[in-house]
Amino acid sequence: METVVSGIRPTGNLHLGNYFGAVRNFLKMQENYNCFFFIADYHSLTTHPTPEDLHENVKQVLAEYLASGLDPEKSTLYIQSDLPEVAELNLLLSMNAYLGELERTTSFKEKARKQPENVNAGLLTYPVLMAADIIIHQASKVPVGKDQEQNLEMTRKFAGRFNRMYKVNYFTIPQPFNFGDNLIKIPGLDGTGKMGKSEGNGIYLADDPKAIRKKVMRAVTDSGPTEPNSEMSEPVRNLFTLLEVVSTPDTVEFFRDKYNSCEIRYGDLKKQLAEDIIKFTAPIRERINEIKADEAYLGKVVKMGKEKAHESASKTIKEVREIIGIKPFF
Ligand code: TRP
Repeated sequence: METVVSGIRPTGNLHLGNYFGAVRNFLKMQENYNCFFFIADYHSLTTHPTPEDLHENVKQVLAEYLASGLDPEKSTLYIQSDLPEVAELNLLLSMNAYLGELERTTSFKEKARKQPENVNAGLLTYPVLMAADIIIHQASKVPVGKDQEQNLEMTRKFAGRFNRMYKVNYFTIPQPFNFGDNLIKIPGLDGTGKMGKSEGNGIYLADDPKAIRKKVMRAVTDSGPTEPNSEMSEPVRNLFTLLEVVSTPDTVEFFRDKYNSCEIRYGDLKKQLAEDIIKFTAPIRERINEIKADEAYLGKVVKMGKEKAHESASKTIKEVREIIGIKPFF
């Protein structure tokens, strides 16, 4: 069975875009692949979170993925910092990662521009740590969004370079995971573009009903159709896209007909959309809170993940040390 690795940044909460994107993909992958999903807490240290925030964020994101259906029995679900082998491989790989190529990566340049007061070495070597995450389990597939393509390209480069340098065919060169075009793109509530954390246009799984109603009622629309069967503007189309995701086909049809006959009242559409989003997210939110309150369960999940991940990571590190020439004297 092919091995898949993916890291999850413990920053912020899951919104509907994440849920119907990354999370849905994980749920599909866990059925068919040997999956390693981990919470990338080392990576998140580049932004200097407080100790309290770091721990809370790790716990939150773990609870949200579990509540969304990630199954610790089917996939290996662990916390990056529970695997010291990752830190060791990061160090070993960094010896063959060159300053020039690291400085040239788009994400580094962007972060350096955005936060000139904190251009730390961890930001520079971010792709090295990510490569370590992936090749420590000899992953052949990595699900990546557009923003992570270059990082995966770096992983392929570092793995290939290691193989050539030591004249071995050791590391698997990972491929980007391709889901095809049938992914639903969840739009934001601000009229254009997709739902995103930085855009501030999202509805979160952890949002309470009041917050959801408020956000949906404020969503951007237009002044309404003036002739029958006219084309929808982007903001209105976006509301329909969300409706299609959370409502019944009958409801969607009802509002489509209203739109086509120019009788639509966007306020009614929004009210319905808000209630259907609440209906959809309420059970997930409830599970998130239950899981977060169950320290014993979380502890069990994390421990099991650590043990399973350690098995494959320790094997890799042992072999890598041997290839490099780090040999035991005793
Ligand atoms: N860099 C990824 C992100 O920002 C998170 C990540 C860390 C990752 N290590 C990984 C993703 C390994 C895939 C594989 O989303």
